[in-house]
Amino acid sequence: MTSSEQKRRGGETMIKGLKAALGAATLGLLAGTALGASPAAAQSTDSDLVTRGAYIARLGDCVACHTGLHGQTFAGGLEIKTPVGTIYSTNITPSKQNGIGNYTLQDFDNAVRRGIRKDGSYLYPAMPYPSFARMTDDDIKALYAYFMQGVPAIEQPDKPVDISWPLSMRWPLGLWAKMFAPAAKAFTPAPGSDPVVARGEYLVTGPGHCGACHTPRGFSMQEKAYDGAGGAEFLAGGGVIDNWIAPSLRDDPVVGLGRWTEDDLVQFLRSGRIDHSAVFGGMADVVAWSTQYWTEDDLRATARYLKSLPPVPKAKGDYTYDASTAEALDSGKTAGMTGADIYIEQCAICHRNDGGGVARMFPPLAGNPVVATDDPTSLAHVVVAGGVLPPTNWAPSAIAMPAYHKLLNDQQVADVVNFIRTSWGNKAPANVTAAGITKLRTSNQPLGTQRGWTASSTNYSSWGLFPPQPYGNGWSFAPQTHTGVDEAK
Ligand code: HEC
Ligand code: HEC
Ligand code: HEC
Repeated sequence: MTSSEQKRRGGETMIKGLKAALGAATLGLLAGTALGASPAAAQSTDSDLVTRGAYIARLGDCVACHTGLHGQTFAGGLEIKTPVGTIYSTNITPSKQNGIGNYTLQDFDNAVRRGIRKDGSYLYPAMPYPSFARMTDDDIKALYAYFMQGVPAIEQPDKPVDISWPLSMRWPLGLWAKMFAPAAKAFTPAPGSDPVVARGEYLVTGPGHCGACHTPRGFSMQEKAYDGAGGAEFLAGGGVIDNWIAPSLRDDPVVGLGRWTEDDLVQFLRSGRIDHSAVFGGMADVVAWSTQYWTEDDLRATARYLKSLPPVPKAKGDYTYDASTAEALDSGKTAGMTGADIYIEQCAICHRNDGGGVARMFPPLAGNPVVATDDPTSLAHVVVAGGVLPPTNWAPSAIAMPAYHKLLNDQQVADVVNFIRTSWGNKAPANVTAAGITKLRTSNQPLGTQRGWTASSTNYSSWGLFPPQPYGNGWSFAPQTHTGVDEAK
């Protein structure tokens, strides 16, 4: 038994429901190959398909969006806020009254890969169908089998979108889909590509829809590239979503994953924490509901594919640790270092004077891409609002970062954030102001000049200049974060 298998066994006691099905999926797949030709296997093939579908649902993170806060699994109702009102995820259990029980395979396929509902109207691209468009026919079939046979029907009616007419009309969504969403086309690996990297590309660009957050968006909220061939901006770091920023996943040593090893990535996606980083914000949901359940092989494929993407734009330099900050903090010689004293009083107990944090508990701030990213919104947000490192089956304790909005005034938050951006060798601009923090705290407005989601001062919340404009400034595809509050996991 490899050590990862041992860990898996060890964690099994805590593994409920789907997670147990996952183990069975692996066995089921093996059994499937062995029994494939046997006619007696018809019955079990069907249940194999369902089990496989359950795993694909994990890859696509369907549960995170389609489960309301404290709600029942897949019964929908999670809020997605937009400047013109709120939309809700829908019930995708096989209830004939309230869910998708009447959907044929074709109907289901149309919704998942093309964004078209059974009644012919279009879905908001909050549902990441532009990525799911790349899923294979086999995966869609398995997913369908799972939702029809493996998920209990729940009688919970959908909440109507809370957007008033005329903005509530759905036809512009169809135009949006035609203009911006890639056509449904199953992923095929480039000829001669390494099968592991190709699997990773499929997972990242297809069911995993990582680009939904990690790729910048254009003026109409479309992702600027849906794969590596589509353009340099693919996975180059997204805009602000709910005041979190998904940083670049390209191979840049300062703002990207350049200093992460393949093992780091596997470990991060599985447990949410590695020696030099810890998950938070929207990514915490992704790890908690989705990637922690991925197989070792799939995580490794994902990691290898991400490591194969060159940095964009070209890396501006490397990160080198600068020991002088720690020396100054240790000796108390902090005169003239704005924010240093606040750091010592409030932060150093966990993140340490050397900025190194405590492995797997308190993330380091030295050399952390999240700290170095041009836009400081995420950073300021985690200091203002705090965060909880979610428990996973691989790292079961929840660890919290305190919220500082009551302990520190806005100037002090700005000072300490600027301090960590410019210490220990971090070379980010010290561009956070007290006024920016006030705005972030009181009206949830992101800091900095944003690409994508909240790109400019243009108000896209009405169709205005570029009709039809169902998407734009302030729109979010991200549902409310609900890691840790839900049993459905
Ligand atoms: C990021 C959030 C998100 C994820 C992830 C997501 N969905 Fe959705 N989905 C939505 C939202 C929001 C809607 C409703 C959109 C609307 O009302 O236009 C929706 C709609 C749907 C519909 C249409 C239902 C209907 O009423 O016609 C289906 C089917 C569906 N999703 C299936 C899935 C499956 C299967 C997965 C996983 C492979 C998935 N979704 C993952 C957000 C998501
Ligand atoms: C709902 C939006 C969202 C989705 C979808 C998403 N991410 Fe993230 N991701 C984030 C945010 C926000 C952060 C920054 C917070 C953090 O580092 O934990 C992040 C951080 C990361 C990091 C750490 C980067 C760093 O420099 O610290 C990795 C690695 C990562 N994501 C990989 C992925 C992969 C792989 C996928 C697809 C399976 C994915 N993400 C999907 C929002 C998302
Ligand atoms: C009690 C321990 C503790 C204290 C005190 C603390 N933090 Fe944290 N910090 C954490 C934990 C735990 C996380 C991970 C949170 C998460 O994943 O949501 C974190 C995350 C962060 C992050 C995000 C980095 C990443 O990669 O996840 C930043 C930035 C940060 N803290 C800055 C600060 C600053 C600035 C202060 C002082 C004003 C501070 N912290 C005080 C425990 C602490």
